[in-house]
Amino acid sequence: MQVPDIIIAVDGFSSTGKSTFAKMVAKEFSFLYLDSGAMYRGVTLYAMENGMIAPDGAIGEEALKAVIGTLDLHFRRDDGQTSLYLGDRCIEGEIRTLAVSSHVSPVSAIPFVRNYVDGKLHAFSQGGRVIMDGRDIGTTVFPGAELKVFMTADTAVRAQRRYDEMVSKGETPVYEEVLKNLEERDYIDSHRETSPLARAADAFVMDNTHMTMHEELVWVLGVIQGKFGLLEAPSLSC
Ligand code: DC
Repeated sequence: MQVPDIIIAVDGFSSTGKSTFAKMVAKEFSFLYLDSGAMYRGVTLYAMENGMIAPDGAIGEEALKAVIGTLDLHFRRDDGQTSLYLGDRCIEGEIRTLAVSSHVSPVSAIPFVRNYVDGKLHAFSQGGRVIMDGRDIGTTVFPGAELKVFMTADTAVRAQRRYDEMVSKGETPVYEEVLKNLEERDYIDSHRETSPLARAADAFVMDNTHMTMHEELVWVLGVIQGKFGLLEAPSLSC
């Protein structure tokens, strides 16, 4: 059973497991996975490394605006994994640090940054069979996406997941700081003027507080089957 050549938009709060879910679906159906949050993190890393973010968090918007069109941020597929590159440099590790996480929400709220990322996402999605995760994919970037999923989960559970992920990478986070960062990002992401985090009216909501990955996969298969009128569910590899 073939899943049609669709665009799947996955939006939701931070640390709801959007990228884990999207990667799993991409692998299952041989779709291209695009992580839009990674693009915002890449722009933030660039701004931090080039003195465009002051110690108090103020962003040098004019300086960033002057160079953003020249930023060569792109994804490469290495060993079946999609990684973000800035020119020839893989920045997949650097963009996941707490330092980048602390500055990314205000950077992603800047309209010209959003235009830059949206343009890149459209260019990378030519041809379809793409699953993309973010905050505004189903509402702004691809309002016509054939399938939209909105993910949510209990805040304490999300903070614990993020904490565990950082520990597994050898970092030494403080749980309360991780929780605070998450709550701040939820607030900024949902209240900014340009393209705030919001559920598209036609999105299917998944609350995965108590779901395993296998249950998420079974859930999305059921949705695809129902929405596209497939008589037989695509078979699962896991
Ligand atoms: O998904 P993430 O935590 O890697 O995203 C990093 C930040 O980027 C997050 O704070 C909000 C922002 N973001 C956004 O504004 N729009 C998107 N489509 C994706 C991410």
